Amino acid sequence: MALNLQENTKELFTTLLKFAPTAIIFLDMRGNIIECTEHTLKLFELSKEELVRKNFLEIVHEDERDKVLVGLEQLIAQDRPISAQLTLYKRNGRTFKAEVYANLARDEHGKPFQIILTASDVTEHKIIGQELYNARELLNILMEAVPDAIYFKDSSSRFTKVNRAHAERMGLKNPEEAVGKTDFDFYSEEFARQAYEDEQEIIRTGKPLINKVEKVIGKDGLIHWVTATKIPIRDKNGKVIGIVGISRDITELKLIEEKLKRYSEQLEKMVEEKTRALLEAERLAAIGEVVSMIVHDLRSPLQVILYKTFLLKEKLKQLPIPSYEKDSFKETLDSINEQVEYMNKMVSDFKDYARNIKPEYLEIDLKKLIEEVLATFILPENVKVRVSIQEGFPKLLIDPMMMRRVLSNLISNAIDALPHGGNIFLDAKIENEQIVISVEDTGIGISEENLEKLFKPFFTTKDKGTGLGLAICKRFIELHGGHIFVDSKPGTGTKFTIKLPVEGHVKG
Ligand SMILES: Nc1ncnc2c1ncn2[C@@H]1O[C@H](COP(=O)(O)OP(=O)(O)O)[C@@H](O)[C@H]1O
Ligand SMILES: [Mg+2]
Repeated sequence: MALNLQENTKELFTTLLKFAPTAIIFLDMRGNIIECTEHTLKLFELSKEELVRKNFLEIVHEDERDKVLVGLEQLIAQDRPISAQLTLYKRNGRTFKAEVYANLARDEHGKPFQIILTASDVTEHKIIGQELYNARELLNILMEAVPDAIYFKDSSSRFTKVNRAHAERMGLKNPEEAVGKTDFDFYSEEFARQAYEDEQEIIRTGKPLINKVEKVIGKDGLIHWVTATKIPIRDKNGKVIGIVGISRDITELKLIEEKLKRYSEQLEKMVEEKTRALLEAERLAAIGEVVSMIVHDLRSPLQVILYKTFLLKEKLKQLPIPSYEKDSFKETLDSINEQVEYMNKMVSDFKDYARNIKPEYLEIDLKKLIEEVLATFILPENVKVRVSIQEGFPKLLIDPMMMRRVLSNLISNAIDALPHGGNIFLDAKIENEQIVISVEDTGIGISEENLEKLFKPFFTTKDKGTGLGLAICKRFIELHGGHIFVDSKPGTGTKFTIKLPVEGHVKG
């Protein structure tokens, strides 16, 4: 190749002179023009003979000749290409402005033997052209540099130009590949249709679309969020011939926004629940206060009534009246007694619930405690109770009064749940570092709806119920650091399970 080049150098040179689209002028070291390209002749509107006979200074405006001399001296002294804007003469003494570059050519010993000039016309209309060229260049640089997707579309929403960022978003290696295609080629039908309609509206009305938040769905289903701005492009007559669009990816922002929204909703819900719980607690505290006052005042009159009915019954025995009348009075007195006993029970339930107490832990034999509690019940004939305590079950450190109340409540509920008889199982064991005590019955069971309300104070389905039994159980067990659970099936039975941590409730 190199050899060929050398052989053909002369030929190449001639071709260059003929076809190079630039004005190139060769000067000897005294500034005489010795050769030039064809383009140069066009620029100066001179024939070759006319130009080649001249010294370069002759075609430079008088005012600038000193400057040129200084420049050339500098070029030779410093051997660095120089450039200058000069006013040059062409045919008939007319001038034009040119940007001139000067360079030295050296022989094989490094000695300069020629000066090579290139000149380009920078008169006004050319300058404007240059600026236009620069504007387009600038736009290109800008389009490639910004991370936002920028695109141009014609009046039927076909891409005419897109930048690199947009090409990448559409999965293209080369922005050129987008030309002639539409959103339908890259996005889901749903998204492409909406975008198309928006753009046609802009083309119809000439109204831009500013910062519209769009959910972009790719053909692969991948979702991006963007803000899209689309502006109409008009021709000389003001007719809209397309649009230019810029879209910014805000997916990350959107994700953060959604997360924040979810957090704030959660927070709201938590606050709501807390508020409700606080209100409920407040309400219960108020009830508790009133109840403890009433209970305090009711206790003694009830005791008085019980005592007086006892006295009346004693007196009745000695009254000189027929025995059938005695029986009738006695029945009435018994009934009063029964009702007062019931009131007494209610009073003690309320008292327990309203009381603000701390458990007092004592060492207790659970088996014995269960037996004591069972002894307080008169069991219907058709109700059978079975107690099973795990072998080696330890003594417990618990508050006996509280545990008695808990078991008593659970057993009495179980009996109530067995109107037609059945079984009650009491079970105690240690399992997974927990004391597990359960009371199970084969009774009527509990509906799903009621299961949720079970432990709330005053929830009862019984005519003479207080709805405080399970609320008290829950409170007492929780005061022990434990939990109470229920498992029930309507028509099959119910199982209440108490779990207490072994730690703190078993010695050792
Ligand atoms: N073993 C059980 N079987 C069926 N329902 C039960 C059982 N234990 C409790 N319940 C239901 O829970 C309600 C609340 O019980 P509780 O708090 O002890 O109040 P009360 O016994 O005064 O109604 C009862 O009215 C009943 O509907
Ligand atoms: Mg009860």
